[in-house]
Amino acid sequence: STRHVLESISKQFHLPDERLHAITNQFVKDFALGLGEYAKPMAMIPTFVTGVPDGTEKGTFLALDLGGTNLRVCEVQLNGDKTFKLRQQKYKMSEILKTGEATALFDYLADSVDSFLTERGLDLEDQEELHLGLTFSFPVEQSALDKGILLTWTKGFAAKNAVGNDVVRLLQDAFDRKHLHVKCVALVNDTVGALLSRAYTSGGCLLGAIFGTGTNGAYVEDVKNITKLGNSAAAAKGGKMIVNTEWGAFNNTRSILPTTPHDNKLDRESINPKFQAYEKFISGMYLGEITRNLLLSLIDSAPPVLFKGNSTPVLNSHYGFDTAFMSDIEAATSVKDIKAVIVQNLGFEDDQVSDQDAEIVRWACELVATRAAKLSGCAVAAVAIQTGHARLGGGFSKDDSKLAVGVDGSLVQFYPGFETRLRASLRACVGEDVEKRVEIGMAKDGSGVGAALCALQAIKQNTRQP
Ligand code: BG6
Ligand code: GLC
Repeated sequence: STRHVLESISKQFHLPDERLHAITNQFVKDFALGLGEYAKPMAMIPTFVTGVPDGTEKGTFLALDLGGTNLRVCEVQLNGDKTFKLRQQKYKMSEILKTGEATALFDYLADSVDSFLTERGLDLEDQEELHLGLTFSFPVEQSALDKGILLTWTKGFAAKNAVGNDVVRLLQDAFDRKHLHVKCVALVNDTVGALLSRAYTSGGCLLGAIFGTGTNGAYVEDVKNITKLGNSAAAAKGGKMIVNTEWGAFNNTRSILPTTPHDNKLDRESINPKFQAYEKFISGMYLGEITRNLLLSLIDSAPPVLFKGNSTPVLNSHYGFDTAFMSDIEAATSVKDIKAVIVQNLGFEDDQVSDQDAEIVRWACELVATRAAKLSGCAVAAVAIQTGHARLGGGFSKDDSKLAVGVDGSLVQFYPGFETRLRASLRACVGEDVEKRVEIGMAKDGSGVGAALCALQAIKQNTRQP
């Protein structure tokens, strides 16, 4: 019966507390592996950002942001009093740019900066060079604030001849080809941007996390724990450094992640099978697709459980069911409203969707999104444990310190209940004190403010050198 089918699927998606603990435990182990050695799946990338801002920083910079839903160019003015002014323009990114030649992609980035400058009236020939920070939200092995090699593409990007190259060089070459008076002085991941911007506006931050098209986190680590830095100058300096975990690649072997046939299908049909395992359970790029796979299995089951066995071209197409539909369905307050979302977006006629169909679709969305939010809680718990704030199974450090988390991304910003579900999972992992000790806040305009703060740090470092 229908109830039977749904119950058995529910079980596959269910994550009991013990499972959340086991995942968190594995997370902490994988942090240690990545801090100790290069080329581990969870890359734990040293960012060479050694200070966290306190809001007094000042200056005006350009920022370019690639890797989220939008390509953006910003002009950021840091006022030095925890406030900033940001002007930005969004540009379209086509599939062709994402998967074509890297030079074409970087030329497009340079063109976007060029047209932004023209619009803002900042393209004066005799003007001094403008400084730009690049927020580049992909795994980049950094060797300095303004140098880093792309390790691999993620989130549907696959531009050729970029992996293995210095991203700052690729961008600067494109600026130079167009004779733009712009110098890229810093490179930053969006998670690092989120951390820095949260710190700038709220006075401190330990973890910057993105739950958007992709998922990832960066946190403040003791340099002495980043043992793979060996005898380098950075290691000798000691202190703290922000580490970009690239947690989207957690458990690529899927030994502990709760894989279902719907996840396997998604992975097989993705452009990076076997990579970014954790991200594929969590982020906005994939949740709609997992749900689509699940809905199709209910349509195809014998006897059919959904839509009397009928599908639509939207439901039949790869990535045709957008995560934003899930968000709208979960936000709907009546069966009638859910039906309306289904009819508007999936291409069914009014009379093809029964009340029960609407309820089952909503149930499927909730199932997939709740699993995502719970798994997200494990990553945050792992950082709380890694940084000595909490212990697995419960118990925070005695010192009353707060763990400040800055978050950004379409999922945490727009998906109904995402943060509440994440917090519930966090409590299951490290205890009820979460409510007193963990402060989660939006990191507004992380890409712009974070890139600007990094650019500032880079310039300070360069002027200090002989
Ligand atoms: C934006 C940040 O707000 O969020 C970007 O400025 C970041 O740097 C993005 O990449 C992530 O969210 P999404 O949903 O656009 O992937
Ligand atoms: C992907 C990228 C990572 C980025 C995250 C969020 O996981 O690899 O660098 O931070 O998406 O945008």
